[in-house]
Amino acid sequence: MKDIKAKILSNKKISDSYYKMTLDAPYIAKTAKPGQFVQIRCSDGLDPLLRRPFSIHRAKDLEILYEVIGKGTEVLSERKPGEHIDVLGPLGNGFGLPSAVSSQLSAILVCGGIGVAPLVFLAEELAKKKIKTTVLIGARTKNLILCEKDFKDLSAEVHIATDDGSCGHKGFVPELLGTRDMGQETRVYACGPKPMLKSITAICRKKELMCEVSLEETMACGVGVCLGCAVKVKGQGTRDKGQGCELVCKDGPVFDAKDLIWK
Ligand SMILES: Cc1cc2nc3c(=O)[nH]c(=O)nc-3n(C[C@H](O)[C@H](O)[C@H](O)COP(=O)(O)OP(=O)(O)OC[C@H]3O[C@@H](n4cnc5c(N)ncnc54)[C@H](O)[C@@H]3O)c2cc1C
Ligand code: FES
Repeated sequence: MKDIKAKILSNKKISDSYYKMTLDAPYIAKTAKPGQFVQIRCSDGLDPLLRRPFSIHRAKDLEILYEVIGKGTEVLSERKPGEHIDVLGPLGNGFGLPSAVSSQLSAILVCGGIGVAPLVFLAEELAKKKIKTTVLIGARTKNLILCEKDFKDLSAEVHIATDDGSCGHKGFVPELLGTRDMGQETRVYACGPKPMLKSITAICRKKELMCEVSLEETMACGVGVCLGCAVKVKGQGTRDKGQGCELVCKDGPVFDAKDLIWK
């Protein structure tokens, strides 16, 4: 992990309130694994003071895909190419990639909203390993669907669900997963809102499928110091000496779904 002053190569609005930023940060890009994230100081000044966490979207140059929702991301969207920005990373533990590839092995990526961000990097790595990949993308409405072309360019099969039925299945994206025929060697990877991850975990538990989810908790330090991002896990967890907690920034953000306690 390094704290880098990275040059902004591009920062473009891609639709609605979604932006893509590319950064010149070769160390982070080269060492990053899918599912890891960076902490970015959005402003040059002190407001907002705390860094904001963003998943590594692609790692050729370091790319993040973000949604403007508050002060930090608003400031970030106004940053210009050529400016330099503080980036700390790569942070956290990413997705578990299968080492041995059998013909039965396949992956299903389930994305909700901006949760698509880390799954494009994962799809790239799965494509390198020639693992058959299906992507289920959920969005509120048609023009908020993200990265469909990126996944198709990687030869993944893509299915869409929209809340309002303006594209694909009308309903929530876990419904697409629930109705699929999945072999025992299917691995499910998901990122999105907590209720979505909770439904996916329940489906995978029922079908006894391996499932990893990437959690998004509000973070302060991002490196395991402030204890602000603790989540409840089954058993003792790896920290807190038996309190059953783990830290999303250090132990995650990716967890084996069966280890988590969902409220
Ligand atoms: C590991 C990790 C990876 C992430 N990856 C991405 C990504 O790739 N793209 C992206 O757009 N966002 C991502 N996020 C969420 C992103 O960090 C927040 O959207 C950002 O910090 C908001 O900052 P802000 O100053 O704009 O909003 P704030 O003013 O801080 O908050 C605005 C509103 O958003 C809520 N909020 C703030 N942080 C989070 C959070 N982490 N999760 C859910 N709600 C939050 C607040 O409660 C508040 O209601 C990630 C978060 C984590 C923990
Ligand atoms: S954000 Fe500080 S411990 Fe996780």
